[in-house]
Amino acid sequence: MPNRIAGFSKLSKTEKIEWLLNTYFTNIEASRDLIKQYWNTNKKLQKLHDEFIENTITNYYLPLGIAPNFSINDSLYAIPMAIEESSVVAAASKSAKFWLERGGFKTKVISTVKIGQVHFIYNGDFDKLSSFFDSVKPKLIESTKDITKNMERRGGGILDIELRNKTTDIDNYYQLHATFETLDAMGANFINSCLEQFASTLKDEALIYDDFSEEEKSIDIVMSILSNYVPNCLVRAEVSCAIDDLKSKDIPNPEIFVSKFKQAVNIAEVEPYRAVTHNKGIMNGIDAVILATGNDFRAVEAGVHAYATREGKYSSLTHCTIDDGVFKFWLEIPLALGTVGGLTSLHPLVKFSLQMLKNPTAKELMQIVAVAGLAQNFAAVKSLTTTGIQQGHMKMHLMNILNQFEATSEEKTNLIEHFKTNTVTHSAVVEAIENLRR
Ligand code: MEV
Repeated sequence: MPNRIAGFSKLSKTEKIEWLLNTYFTNIEASRDLIKQYWNTNKKLQKLHDEFIENTITNYYLPLGIAPNFSINDSLYAIPMAIEESSVVAAASKSAKFWLERGGFKTKVISTVKIGQVHFIYNGDFDKLSSFFDSVKPKLIESTKDITKNMERRGGGILDIELRNKTTDIDNYYQLHATFETLDAMGANFINSCLEQFASTLKDEALIYDDFSEEEKSIDIVMSILSNYVPNCLVRAEVSCAIDDLKSKDIPNPEIFVSKFKQAVNIAEVEPYRAVTHNKGIMNGIDAVILATGNDFRAVEAGVHAYATREGKYSSLTHCTIDDGVFKFWLEIPLALGTVGGLTSLHPLVKFSLQMLKNPTAKELMQIVAVAGLAQNFAAVKSLTTTGIQQGHMKMHLMNILNQFEATSEEKTNLIEHFKTNTVTHSAVVEAIENLRR
């Protein structure tokens, strides 16, 4: 294969770039300029970013926006959001302001338990394995003392370890299913280190357990890894107000509004095709804050969508009631987040974002992130059931189209004014640009 390269990671940054340009590009000069244009002039800062991952060639920017005016349990927040989708920050800000005038967001952390598993194969009698586990459990915990002592000093650590028999799913398959409290750390490294120690202790102790036969002594560890499914690391965010109080410019008739809004939420509760898009809108808000605060959005995405399927069918993460003249709308999701460790102390913009959020604990961050998701979903469902989504979407998209056509500042001012009273579509914007330039 002609483009195959050995030892790529050992090359210098410049060598990597030159190999890449010469192998895959025809416009070499322009591509090199582009890569360099995104380098930070501050060499120390650039080195920091280079070292986050392997084979870095340049930086990939996302806008960091701010959605102010979020009242969460009666404290005001400006929420940082890193996202490329044009309407998300605007929608969050609009929701924040709307609910600021109607009692704000109320939140509660329900639980903070994280999970990890050692998956292993044992060929033998289950009762013997069960007795072995009971006898070895204190040793499993004791063997992690060096890993857990700091976490325990702060009030966290291993909560429990269970033996789980999974042989109805796969022959001879068992698990150590362990639960953890990791406080302000997301805890992935802590949990994985504990699990690998459990695995090693389990294997060693089995070898010298008298009641096991020779075959039973040789426990085979398949893997040790945390689970990103954390249904007991849960947070709830809610808004509510008297139906009449929803009256506003966009909601001239609150009774009709809440009835349609509730229908839309109910549809997402029963119809997976709609639920996926409904929840995608929630994740627009959640991922943007997760990214800005240096957390792992892939872990959160995986866990949240698994949670949405917990009753056997993919369903809405938000719910709504209308009782005694009161509209209530809430979200309950699993979020395993950290405000210490990982990127939180390394990436200057992550530190900045956390400072903006008043340096939250992990529990506080869970509540802020849940609010961003609920606010985003309120804005989306409100638009969908009133004006339709395209009006707001295309207004925000207008700037992208103008930039695509390299509109000057003067052209932008002119066309933004024009589209205050005209419908934005891609072709309408192109036509307006052409007319202006004619
Ligand atoms: C677009 O990114 C998100 C929405 O599709 C969400 C929804 O339909 O609820 C607007």
